[in-house]
Amino acid sequence: MPEPVRIAGTSDVPVGEGREFTVGDRVIALFNVDGEFHALDGICPHSGGPLANGPLRGCVVTCPWHGWQFDVTTGVHCLAPRITQPTIPLEVRGDDVYVTLED
Ligand code: FES
Repeated sequence: MPEPVRIAGTSDVPVGEGREFTVGDRVIALFNVDGEFHALDGICPHSGGPLANGPLRGCVVTCPWHGWQFDVTTGVHCLAPRITQPTIPLEVRGDDVYVTLED
């Protein structure tokens, strides 16, 4: 069973924004939606864009490279629901955000 890994402090990601973090060889996009944190695989499935760097409106992030949009709470593409970006389980412990990564 994988152990949770601390990736950030809660203050590292302002409300309404995303930030990119790496754990080993994994790139993680961490978003703060009105104080609730959500994590996705940070590499856009279209062509590898950095999802964490895209603008976040509500719970929708827009990839900065070509505009694909994902609901960060589910990973589902907004126009093509068959496309889903992997979500990453997380938990907030005090002021720290932990993720659990499958191998
Ligand atoms: S790389 Fe994200 S939309 Fe193209």
